[in-house]
Amino acid sequence: MQAPGDLASFRLNQGEAAGSDTFARNTRSMPGAPRGGPSPQRAAAMKRWLADKIAFQRDPLVFLLARGCAAREALVPLSLGPGPVMLVADPALIEPIMSAPESEIGRAKPARRIGALAARSASAPSGEALFERRAAVRRQFATGLASAYVPQIAALARQQAAILARAEAFDAHEVTSRLTLRVICQILFGPSVLGTADESILVDAVRLVENDLAADQFRTLPPLPWVGRRRKAEARHGRAVVMHVVERAKARAADASVLRALEPMALPPEDLADEVLLLLLAGHHTTAAAAAWLLYHLARDPATARRIALEAATASDRAGELVAERLPQASVSLAFVREVLRLYPSTWWLWREVRQPIALAGCELKRGTSLLISPWHMHRDPRFWQAPERFRLDRAFQGPAYLPFGSGPHVCLGMGVGLLELQILALEFSAAYELRALDARVGGPKPSLVLIPPPLRLSLRPRGLSPLDAGAQHIAGSVR
Ligand code: HEM
Repeated sequence: MQAPGDLASFRLNQGEAAGSDTFARNTRSMPGAPRGGPSPQRAAAMKRWLADKIAFQRDPLVFLLARGCAAREALVPLSLGPGPVMLVADPALIEPIMSAPESEIGRAKPARRIGALAARSASAPSGEALFERRAAVRRQFATGLASAYVPQIAALARQQAAILARAEAFDAHEVTSRLTLRVICQILFGPSVLGTADESILVDAVRLVENDLAADQFRTLPPLPWVGRRRKAEARHGRAVVMHVVERAKARAADASVLRALEPMALPPEDLADEVLLLLLAGHHTTAAAAAWLLYHLARDPATARRIALEAATASDRAGELVAERLPQASVSLAFVREVLRLYPSTWWLWREVRQPIALAGCELKRGTSLLISPWHMHRDPRFWQAPERFRLDRAFQGPAYLPFGSGPHVCLGMGVGLLELQILALEFSAAYELRALDARVGGPKPSLVLIPPPLRLSLRPRGLSPLDAGAQHIAGSVR
């Protein structure tokens, strides 16, 4: 597989940018440039800015990885826009940054924008009522309750696998986007509450909101006024549609659903819709992207897929249904999921903003400084991981350099659900089917709101051997 974000191509990019040495010369000959051209310091600063900007826009993943891995200092200054930006290169700084009081270090774009869009949702940083709401959702997602979802998620995964077994080939991300949407709709509303028409109305509405957020993510200049107005209007329309669907589905919501968990708070319709919108925004594509890589790696590593098939057998009851209480012991599938999230952390960068002057790692940071933490870099830096580019299950997925779900008070609200969903997918698909990757080489992920997988063409066929036979073979193989 082609290494996504490889360093060699970054050096090339850097070389090209540095080679555009003509910049200083050109600015000197620009109309309006001061006579004699900019001072050498100013020219050097502009050259650095241009080099960072070009390299970042060309490939943010390559850029962040190269800068993070080459860092000698804990905070690396980046020239990405008008304000100061620091890349956090030392994992020991993550906890203090993420857990700092909001008055000192708060959330920056785009996290803050998500909060603003779903303005009344539990993602807003403070307020007793909001904390109460967040607690209700957390309770709903706590491991015990999340396990109530096991039969639902397993049934959806099984149904999907059976459909795929009849197809010649399929694209992993297309399939996991559909599947994870159905899962999250069931978690929010309950099984069979939304019809497929409502689900697709919802997904279109959420896409309008996402488009608005994604367009803002890499932009440094304001959009053209009419483009900005059109996108805002579309985002408002998206929110209104979500509210409409929620209002219609509310009365039918199942007992073990997020809507029911929020019911005692008697939220106004807008608040309830914002809550649903936030969970859809935060929980759908993050899981779908990781799930696509999970299927791809199962296809690339049949021996491990067979071990997971054996694990599925031991984690299931006599009727072949996964037993929620046995899943935490299913260590191979869990390590598989964690390694997928290490290599492809859906949330590949996290932004925080300094709200009042502070000293951090010997640097005086002024108000407005952006702090950029990149799980993509942290998870692939050879100083923190042995052979980081290799897919390996024997890693300790602990420590500050591993943060697929973030950390601190804003740690992922749906972490338990996300992990459960991915583990069930690995177990259900491996138990009965063999996956095959149809392309010898695949591209790297594309950075957007989440890390979007490239086309991953796979096929699926029923397993020739029963999981127990497969397990016996694996054990015999490892004894030999
Ligand atoms: C593999 C799947 C997932 C990944 C990798 C992931 C990752 C993350 C990360 C890194 C954050 C922290 C953002 C920050 O600090 O700025 C976050 C926050 C959040 N996630 Fe997830 N997430 C996943 C699945 C889910 C699911 C399934 C849900 C809900 C059903 C969810 C709901 C949320 C919410 C509501 C927040 C905001 C929490 C807050 O602001 O207090 N996530 N997620």
